[in-house]
Amino acid sequence: MQHMPLLEVLCDNNYHSGEDLAANFKVSRATISNWIGQIRQSGIDIHSVPGRGYVLPNQMQPLNFANLQATLTGNFHFLLSRETNSTNEEVKQLFKQKRLEHDAVVLAATDKQTQGRGRRGRVWHSPFAQNLYFTLGMQLHLPMAELSGLSLVVGIAVAKALQTFGLTPQLKWPNDVYLEGKKLGGILIELEGNFEPPYSVIMGVGLNVNMVDNQQGIEQAWNSLALHSGHNWDRTQVLTSLIQQIINQTNIFCQQGFSPFAKIWPDFDLYLDQNVNIVSGQRVEQGINLGVDDRGNLLLNQHEQIKAITGGEVSLRPA
Ligand code: ATP
Ligand code: BTN
Repeated sequence: MQHMPLLEVLCDNNYHSGEDLAANFKVSRATISNWIGQIRQSGIDIHSVPGRGYVLPNQMQPLNFANLQATLTGNFHFLLSRETNSTNEEVKQLFKQKRLEHDAVVLAATDKQTQGRGRRGRVWHSPFAQNLYFTLGMQLHLPMAELSGLSLVVGIAVAKALQTFGLTPQLKWPNDVYLEGKKLGGILIELEGNFEPPYSVIMGVGLNVNMVDNQQGIEQAWNSLALHSGHNWDRTQVLTSLIQQIINQTNIFCQQGFSPFAKIWPDFDLYLDQNVNIVSGQRVEQGINLGVDDRGNLLLNQHEQIKAITGGEVSLRPA
């Protein structure tokens, strides 16, 4: 991104006159205007108000990294940025390069992703300072067979955090967060390194917070906290709450396995008891969604035969 120091000044959401900025950076006002143009070209809209100066639009509220670091206690390794390619990729690279203490929690959080991704390499739309894009990296002692439940555990943690804000989120097996039947967020779990415990797990979460404008490139109905509630949300506060819940629920998962989560999954399941299609490449299987088993596999009732479907590369769609 161009002119990060100038953008960083605007991240306080206050007005800054061209004159003050020029004095601050010891350049001409024409140079400031040129830098602003370059930031705009990278897709970040900056408002220019006569007599007051430059300011970020209201729905762009950059993360407050100082607050975040002050609120989160524990052995955190922070990777905080205004822009990155993908927070999952950042954590993956860190795991590759560095041996971390066994209890270290890596937190990569950013205001903008240039290569945000969903499952199967699909694009995750990540405009500047509107939504949450973050990844937690942890080393977990779990049998490999249990790991498939992790995406659901993180989903339940996200849903529980949203409940504390008075919302009623739902989950679509295995990795999507919904609000009012529209996609609010998604979870992308990846693994790095040795395929024996402890596993270095990469838990990526994207959640739409203050995004309200029509977005090109999202191919399905979507929602955001602001669209739902009619007001902007404090992204740093929502992020803190999500992180705390994810760490708590992941610890419970490591101690007790998936069964406590299997019990509460139906409370959130978007298509419970409904006729669904399970799509895997060209293959489509139909049945009634009965919820999940003690591993997080989807239970499909096909003419009174119960079949367990593992996550991986399959997609659930309403029939
Ligand atoms: P499934 O995983 O069951 O196939 P899905 O169709 O939602 O569900 P995912 O890979 O989970 O697919 O998510 C990627 C899709 O999410 C993209 O194809 C895009 O349509 C949509 N998407 C991308 N960015 C956003 C966003 N910020 N908010 C909501 N949806 C998004
Ligand atoms: C999905 O619905 O397919 C999952 C979307 C996951 C998006 C998040 S945003 C933070 C992290 N970094 C990425 O590149 N992807 C995840």
